[in-house]
Amino acid sequence: MDIRTALKQGIAQLREADVPSFTLAAELLLLHVLGRNRTWLYAHPEEIVSDADVHRFFELINRRAAGEPTQHLTGKQEFWGLEFEVTPDVLIPRPETEHVIEVALDRLALRELRAGRPQKSAGEGLEIADIGTGSGCIAIAMAKELPAANFYATDISPAALAIAKRNAQRHAVADRIHLLESNLFDALPVGAQHATPQPGAIAKNAPAPVFYQSPATSHQSLHFDLIVSNPPYIGRRESPSLPREVRDHEPNAALFGGEEGYELYADLITQSAKHLKPCGLLVLELGHNSLPAVQPLLDAPEWTKVGVTNDLAGIPRVLAAERL
Ligand SMILES: C[S@@+](CC[C@H](N)C(=O)[O-])C[C@H]1O[C@@H](n2cnc3c(N)ncnc32)[C@H](O)[C@@H]1O
Repeated sequence: MDIRTALKQGIAQLREADVPSFTLAAELLLLHVLGRNRTWLYAHPEEIVSDADVHRFFELINRRAAGEPTQHLTGKQEFWGLEFEVTPDVLIPRPETEHVIEVALDRLALRELRAGRPQKSAGEGLEIADIGTGSGCIAIAMAKELPAANFYATDISPAALAIAKRNAQRHAVADRIHLLESNLFDALPVGAQHATPQPGAIAKNAPAPVFYQSPATSHQSLHFDLIVSNPPYIGRRESPSLPREVRDHEPNAALFGGEEGYELYADLITQSAKHLKPCGLLVLELGHNSLPAVQPLLDAPEWTKVGVTNDLAGIPRVLAAERL
């Protein structure tokens, strides 16, 4: 079978199964099997695909038609121009989450400008926390943008932290991202001088031997300049209306914030206030309907300069504020 025929049949099967973006999905699966890029694929439509590759391709097409996300079949997703390993243990990074990074970088630059300081373009001296890091995509993308900043990334899921660790290593930022198994900030002592590893913070049933990486002893405290988070924010009552790719294949802990969805934000915001330096920044991703429940939480006296950023679909997606 040649490439054109294999692709045509794959596309037809995915269209029949009501798979969204069926052409792209079939292309990505064929590229994955052949280990080629799209330019090569379209330059060689007559090339014969080996029987083994045809078999592998249609196996993947069948799994995609049955609802498995393309990213679980290829094992990767691009985010912020970087390739991330993904497995069913982590949320597949979404394009709208890139707005969290844009807002965070803008706010950091503005803060320096307002303080009359030179722009810290490399993030020298900055301590940044990513709460609910999943694949590590936010912390890792920011670590690439701020090559002198130091990061703490927490997740309640040891399996997710194993993926984040591999992604941090792949992008050569593992020495600056300290991964902790933690319920929100629990494993991060407030204001501790010279942070040392907490025994409880070492992942217990971890697939990889140790997640916690001892922070450099030069850190003066665990108060942060910036806290970013894309917490689980879907309501369990919305579960029946979710696409099967999401509901049946992505981790519940990454999806659901509670019955309504916004339940985690109250603790996240209260604890962030305790963990930020004065003038520290909080940047949160919001669910499509979270804003009315979450924005009032920033009316508390410790917050100022509250701002909302819409995503490309016009949905209020990022909520940011500064700690007084
Ligand atoms: C929506 S996903 C975001 C993952 C990643 N930051 C991203 O943007 O793609 C939320 C992550 O928060 C983690 N999580 C859920 N509840 C948590 C909690 N109480 N404390 C820490 N992490 C939590 C989940 O395991 C999941 O990895």
